[in-house]
Amino acid sequence: MTQTKSTNITWHEGDISRDERWKALNCTGATMWFTGLSGSGKSTVASALEQTLVNRGINSYRLDGDNIRHGLNKNLGFSAEDRTENIRRIGEVAKLFADAGSVCLTSFISPYRSDRDLCRALHHESGIRFIEVFVDTPLDVCEERDPKGLYKKARAGEIKGFTGIDDPYEAPHNAELVIRTAERSVDECVEDCISYLEAQGILS
Ligand code: ADX
Repeated sequence: MTQTKSTNITWHEGDISRDERWKALNCTGATMWFTGLSGSGKSTVASALEQTLVNRGINSYRLDGDNIRHGLNKNLGFSAEDRTENIRRIGEVAKLFADAGSVCLTSFISPYRSDRDLCRALHHESGIRFIEVFVDTPLDVCEERDPKGLYKKARAGEIKGFTGIDDPYEAPHNAELVIRTAERSVDECVEDCISYLEAQGILS
């Protein structure tokens, strides 16, 4: 668990509660946490889902691994410690988006179960829904797709510690949703996510 280094800080409650905010804005915040191997389809499905939700008038925002590593997390690499910090920060940011009323979609490999569980706990402690979506695409399919040519480089030893090759991916045991992009189209995967959100009362 990350230590709190700051001292002499006091939590300041705002003047508007979450319930009041969500009621006034007619929204229900939540985080959909997409996890899976590189090339599994996380970003593709999350991006299509984001478009569908926004077109329905839902405030949805996507946080994407490669993109966030260009900015907020540009000082982090791919060691186990850095991946853990990457995911911890995103868990905190996603929680803020969800608190603000957004359906926040995160697409990060997030290879370690304990890191994802921490993000789940962060949300639950705050009373915010956390939906883990396992993008369950077999390694051989991801490697065949190899959209960024990174598996090829990893196999050639040009990238060390690549998830699925010489770094572990710990599949979820209890994901709320499992989607299989090798067997279903992007649209079908998006429909599965929408159905889940409707069944949970997050979308009406
Ligand atoms: S995570 O493990 O910390 O969750 P994240 O989702 O932010 O990873 O970033 C993964 C992306 O970084 C991959 O899709 C790939 O484009 C790139 N990448 C570069 N090096 C690695 C590596 N060693 N392992 C996995 N992905 C890598």
